[in-house]
Amino acid sequence: MCGIVAYVGERDAYPLILKGLKRLEYRGYDSSGVALLHHSELNIYKKKGKVSELEAQYSGKEPRATVGIGHTRWATHGEPNDKNAHPHHSNNRKLAIIHNGIIENYASIKKQLLQKGHVFHSDTDTEVLIHFIEDIQHETGHGLEESVRLALREVVGAYAIVIISADHPGQLIAARKGSPLVIGIGENEFFFASDATPIIEYTKDVVYLDDYQVAVVREGKLSIQSLDNLVTIPYIQKLEMELETIEKGGYDHFMIKEIFEQPRSIADSMRGRLRAGDAHLTLGGLNSYLDKLAEADRIVIVGCGTSWHAGLVAEYLFEELARINVEVEYASEFRYRNPVIGDKDVVIAISQSGETADTLAAIELAKSKGATIFGVCNVVGSSIARATDAGAYTHAGPEIGVASTKAFTAQVTVLTLIAIATAKRKGTITEDSYLQLLNELEGIPAKVERVFENAAKIKEIAFIFTYARNFIYLGRGLNFPVALEGALKLKEISYIHAEGYPAAEMKHGPIALIDEDMPVVFLATKDSSYEKIVSNIQEVKARKGRVIAIVTEGDTLIPSMVDFVIEVPEVHEILTALVSVIPLQLLSYYIAVMRGRNVDQPRNLAKSVTVE
Ligand code: M6R
Repeated sequence: MCGIVAYVGERDAYPLILKGLKRLEYRGYDSSGVALLHHSELNIYKKKGKVSELEAQYSGKEPRATVGIGHTRWATHGEPNDKNAHPHHSNNRKLAIIHNGIIENYASIKKQLLQKGHVFHSDTDTEVLIHFIEDIQHETGHGLEESVRLALREVVGAYAIVIISADHPGQLIAARKGSPLVIGIGENEFFFASDATPIIEYTKDVVYLDDYQVAVVREGKLSIQSLDNLVTIPYIQKLEMELETIEKGGYDHFMIKEIFEQPRSIADSMRGRLRAGDAHLTLGGLNSYLDKLAEADRIVIVGCGTSWHAGLVAEYLFEELARINVEVEYASEFRYRNPVIGDKDVVIAISQSGETADTLAAIELAKSKGATIFGVCNVVGSSIARATDAGAYTHAGPEIGVASTKAFTAQVTVLTLIAIATAKRKGTITEDSYLQLLNELEGIPAKVERVFENAAKIKEIAFIFTYARNFIYLGRGLNFPVALEGALKLKEISYIHAEGYPAAEMKHGPIALIDEDMPVVFLATKDSSYEKIVSNIQEVKARKGRVIAIVTEGDTLIPSMVDFVIEVPEVHEILTALVSVIPLQLLSYYIAVMRGRNVDQPRNLAKSVTVE
């Protein structure tokens, strides 16, 4: 969603901020802007559209400044246009602000300010906030920092903000509640950003701001205080991310780079945790909580989108291996019910970004009811990682493409490790099965690599179906969540309508859609429901549906029945999702590219959904 980049130091701020905003483009946005302070003069440049359009419009006109703030906006209040783009200035034009999040009570504040004669130039909640801060300064006579604090105590909602002031050159003020903000610390310079990607090429020393904290950089020094004026010593952490992980590395899109990275990212998610030869399985962040999991009455898994699909896979794993009752909930639904949950329940929150607002809110709700919360997150130090009692990072590396690919397989891998470890602790699997699973898991990266040998064939199939208007994806058992994930991948990047269904459900409705224009993707690998899937394929073929089947290498029956076949290597049934999802990712990618879609930044979508 929205992105923040701000800089104060000795470098030329404008190109640095623009470069940082481009690094944040993957989050999804519809306009961008920059405010620069030059000899106490505050200038704002903003424009609807891509950062490159902002850059083109002001090329050569911007002054050299060593302090500035920049933003990419994903519209919530007011349509995407130049006037609603950030930064916004105060009534006296001496302050400017960039903001991620939503100020929920902005309308009542705006009403009071209008009565005092404030004039607004946008439809945004953000503009109201900076006017409010100015008003507090004016009414109370407090300095800017204290006025920011007083304003933030009054606002309801979520925010990560950075404020620049014409009266205070060399100063930036930032604050957060519910929306991430990271501060990079260099030699006589500071960087602010909504995630570490714009900072990584300048410094690896960072401070993650906590909720209700206000950070001030003044005269080359960083200080942090809470909204209640409690001083905190900044806790400096080292970023482990490398620059090449956030660049395309010769690929046309981040998505295809990330698909092909999966043998490595799956291996990374197991690194240091699994050594099959020594029967070794350990999850550092979870070890002391394994008893809690093994003794849980119930596991409730919460997540959204692809992470929710990974949760559905985990449901099979925990029930099959550890014999624990599992429920998988959309975080957005869970938070608005009155779920029956208590201290014998364990909640597992799954999130690539670790910033999804609905998942965070579900965690808070479950916490308030006494449940133990585990997190399975990709982004180290993210809000969800910090809000949980314990957890395991997926270590997939930065995922830049909006469509989640390597994050899904890393989530499934880590959840498999947790399920196996829990089953071992509980004594619900035999030593033989345990050792077999560890061995099979270790072999998964090589098997995923083998799926890529079919990439050219998948591309040909994509070519044939480029202009299909609908798709159905069907699977059973562990392949049912994969069917959902395949359909989600296709719709979000190609804009083709696609639905995933449990194959047996087809005859309860979707079968009415089947005709010669309906491509049906069957997840038909050799597993315990193979015979049933064969029958479902026959039902579709009898109605002239065009079938693309994902089958196990060496299968001869299904290839004789269907129109197109994509083979995947044989794996232990429990691990099916890790290989059967790969051809679906590739199929979606190639179709989207052939349709000329913006694969990495599909329309209307954001990488981390920080609003509900
Ligand atoms: O960062 P999260 O895993 O919490 O994100 C959840 C969903 O927003 C995300 O998986 C979304 O569905 C992706 N676009 C799927 O490709």
